[in-house]
Amino acid sequence: MRKPFIAGNWKMNTDGHSGPELVKAVGQGFTQLDREKVDVAVIPPFVYLAQIVNAAKASRIAVGAQDIFYEQKGAFTGEISANMIKDVGCNYCLCGHSERRHVIGEGDELINKKVHAAINGGLLPILCVGELLEEREAGNTEQVVERQVKKDFAGLSVEKARAVTLAYEPVWAIGTGRTATPQQAQEVHAMIRELLAGLYDKSFADDMRIQYGGSVKPDNAKELMQQQDIDGLLVGGASLKADDFLAIIKASIAA
Ligand code: PGA
Repeated sequence: MRKPFIAGNWKMNTDGHSGPELVKAVGQGFTQLDREKVDVAVIPPFVYLAQIVNAAKASRIAVGAQDIFYEQKGAFTGEISANMIKDVGCNYCLCGHSERRHVIGEGDELINKKVHAAINGGLLPILCVGELLEEREAGNTEQVVERQVKKDFAGLSVEKARAVTLAYEPVWAIGTGRTATPQQAQEVHAMIRELLAGLYDKSFADDMRIQYGGSVKPDNAKELMQQQDIDGLLVGGASLKADDFLAIIKASIAA
């Protein structure tokens, strides 16, 4: 079945001292757990990736980037390619995180190019989708998430699409302390899985890991993970404290 996948998105936090300390502390705790039962990744800011890859060695914690650019190289000032991310030792990269969609202004066409570039460059994208509060309140959650999934997967063969992990993150739950209830999250996850079965096939949909993200904390992680279609968690704030992140990893093993 689907192995739980817990990822910590550090966003624009940590520094050259606190980041390595954090990943080492998580790594130490993680070695005490049954590491076969869960995949774990941390997603630090670009400039610290090499340092964190180094500090995470021996702990079986994977490292990912928070974004990617879709071209391979050239005159794209400020951008980072899949090759570069791979070259420093990362396996994962986020695509379409809600802060990139709504603060930076990325649209689905761009996000789709990034997903293609990540996969073609040998990375595993964690593709984030999710509705705004006003979209939920207007009853448009399903429509919004369906549109994002269809546009962001456009042109991906089933073989390539297998590299993707999806993350359902209702925007109103991110960093607000307002988590979706396990039932609200499960409903959307089940809808996404059904959609994927239609876009590809049932076995593809059954294998796809879908993380939930948005104010995940040690005390709500287990109940979220007990939902049938929730296969992992994308954790922001609580991934910045080793004890909290470890408690979330433990809860996912226990669920
Ligand atoms: P949060 O962030 O856990 O701080 O709500 C989640 C995310 O943005 O991935």
